[in-house]
Amino acid sequence: MKLSILITSFALAALPLTAQTPIYLDSSADIEDRIEDVMKRLSTEEKIAMIHAQSKFSSPGVKRLGIPDIWTSDGPHGIRPEVLWDEWKQAGWTNDSCVAFPALTCLAATWNEEMSHLYGKSIGEEARYRNKSILLGPGVNIYRTPLNGRNFEYMGEDPYLASRMVVPYIKGVQENGVAACVKHYALNNNEINRHTTNVIVDDRTLYEIYLPAFKAAVQEGGAWSIMGSYNLYRNQHGCHNEYLLNDILKGEWGFDGVVVSDWGGTHDTDEAIFNGLDLEFGTHTNGLSSGARNAYDSYYLATPYLEKINSGEAGTEELDDKVRRILRLAFRTVMRTDRPFGSMLSEAHYAAAREIGNEGIVLLKNEGGILPIRPEKGDRILVVGENAIKMMTVGGGSSSLKVQHEISPLQGIREAFGETAEVDYVRGYVGDTSDSFDGVVTGQDLKDGRSADELLEEAVREARNSDYVIFVGGLNKSPHQDCENTDREGLGLPYGQDRVIEALAAVSSRFAVINISGNAVAMPWVDKVPAIVQGWYLGSETGHSIADILSGKANPSGKLPFTFPVTLGDSPAHAVGDYPGTRNGDVWDMEYKEGILVGYRWFDTKDIKPLFAFGHGLSYTDFTYGKAAADSRKISGDDTLTVSVEVRNTGKVTGKEVVQLYISDLKSGLPRPEKELKGFRKVELAPGEARTVTFTISKDDLSFFDAEKHGWVAEPGRFKALIGSASDDIRTEVAFELE
Ligand code: BGC
Repeated sequence: MKLSILITSFALAALPLTAQTPIYLDSSADIEDRIEDVMKRLSTEEKIAMIHAQSKFSSPGVKRLGIPDIWTSDGPHGIRPEVLWDEWKQAGWTNDSCVAFPALTCLAATWNEEMSHLYGKSIGEEARYRNKSILLGPGVNIYRTPLNGRNFEYMGEDPYLASRMVVPYIKGVQENGVAACVKHYALNNNEINRHTTNVIVDDRTLYEIYLPAFKAAVQEGGAWSIMGSYNLYRNQHGCHNEYLLNDILKGEWGFDGVVVSDWGGTHDTDEAIFNGLDLEFGTHTNGLSSGARNAYDSYYLATPYLEKINSGEAGTEELDDKVRRILRLAFRTVMRTDRPFGSMLSEAHYAAAREIGNEGIVLLKNEGGILPIRPEKGDRILVVGENAIKMMTVGGGSSSLKVQHEISPLQGIREAFGETAEVDYVRGYVGDTSDSFDGVVTGQDLKDGRSADELLEEAVREARNSDYVIFVGGLNKSPHQDCENTDREGLGLPYGQDRVIEALAAVSSRFAVINISGNAVAMPWVDKVPAIVQGWYLGSETGHSIADILSGKANPSGKLPFTFPVTLGDSPAHAVGDYPGTRNGDVWDMEYKEGILVGYRWFDTKDIKPLFAFGHGLSYTDFTYGKAAADSRKISGDDTLTVSVEVRNTGKVTGKEVVQLYISDLKSGLPRPEKELKGFRKVELAPGEARTVTFTISKDDLSFFDAEKHGWVAEPGRFKALIGSASDDIRTEVAFELE
């Protein structure tokens, strides 16, 4: 009896051991141990299956082991609608509409890291709810030329600003158990010839300008995945580029995540095996209309790789590394048992979109305080321009969305002012009347058979009889505008808008132009128009944000994340750079001859006056700056120096100011830009309120990249800390020395 009790209790105690949960399914176990446990169980064929796509947007897990597939989605402004298994075409779901957040240029223009975290958290929740493991975004390619069709998906021209803004976005996304996929690594700075541009850039420029935001994304943001770029660098494609992926990303930066190819960016099995690509997507075979049978098996990292392993031409070391990285991502995302649930279309997401839009809109000009407008009972507001009514969330390439709603500028203006004033609309010009992208239809019929002269004449006539005229124009998301796969063909506004704006300016003194774009545009009429607003692409809440700014419900606080040149020839890539490069066999060599002098670095150093400078943005209130004070005149070794300045709101309304710190190296062994952004703080101040803003400067902020030493060097000597409201509006400075 005693013995049998003993045996029973022993058996019970032993039960968990015999039916033991495998380590890889034990969420309390260390991720690296879980990875190794899976590795032991996988066949070579299963590993090969995991490193390439099985559908347009997914890669397989291991069904036998209960390891789920990995689902990805664009990115970066909202969660894209579902497509058919093998195609770009819509799956036709009715529950996959999303909230569209403002484009990343707008986010960068907030100069507010809190907005970036809010953005990442919100879009991450939508991605999680839709059960995505990887969100294909954010993008941080540096704004090199205003012609780049994809600048709207990126964070501007400055590596420091882009670095600070990308980190909280990634963290916000990944808090949801969804991997951010930072793109497009690296040097994807134009869309023209995007698969064949071979970038030639010196190491200093690479490290100082084009890499910092990616490095911050990896090292500070802890990004779990990164997307290779289409273009070539040193004659190797970005998706399997030895220098960028093996040496820098995985070597120097210690990246432990997954390198995802851009869709159709893989071109060679050997390079893909050995040069750091982990997960191949979008190779141009779909197995149905244009591919071979079992097309996914003919991906570069599929059967061709397996055959090389079987023949001994390739070992399995690289394969194991790729699979480990993919498993790591799976454990961080889809296999995380405490993964939050996410949410879609929530009030909070709409509120976030509106708040980010409000903070990112930039008031470029406001002569005579035309804005905010305060119509009186019975006043007439005339809204003119196609972009007042055109849906902008549809189009533009892979960032195109299917939204639950998009408030147009006209709708927002009507809601805000309709009770007091009469709000009327005339078209002014006809631009682009396309009404769908990849099967998502806008439901808008924008066709108008009238001639340009007729439309102009109507606009001028109506403007004469209005108290306020608001022109909403700019670019749109069609090819050769702000759109993937093509670049713009010039800096000017399309569709004869300049003529319309000039004519309206001639008949209306209370006139505002709202430019909707993700790029700088030429404004030959700048002196004739009293108020100009940079409106970006603002997503679902576009009209609400624009009306909040026009009415003064929100006080503008956005600052330009890139320079507006007067003419295209003023901007560095076109003045001395090499655009769109020189044909060299199958590729287009494009030399970044302007080197480190990108954006304001060029304009400042060459003393070229921009149309609107980097960091520029007005407010409905005024801010005065006190005198900057440093806690020491010298900085040595690893010490830091503190610079403080008092900023006061001297106007009548509460507002936010972005206090910007630039460093100028007064004498240096290597040529340096006139000044470089090294700090910023956004502060909210009530009327009369003052706040002391403090910046800490370390040796790192004074360094340049010495290509010969392959390292960062801080040269002793004299420097200046310049503090101001824009790169061309420095209010105070303090000199100091690095010993
Ligand atoms: C774009 C990527 C995008 C991918 C998937 C590519 O054409 O360059 O940014 O994530 O398609 O849609």
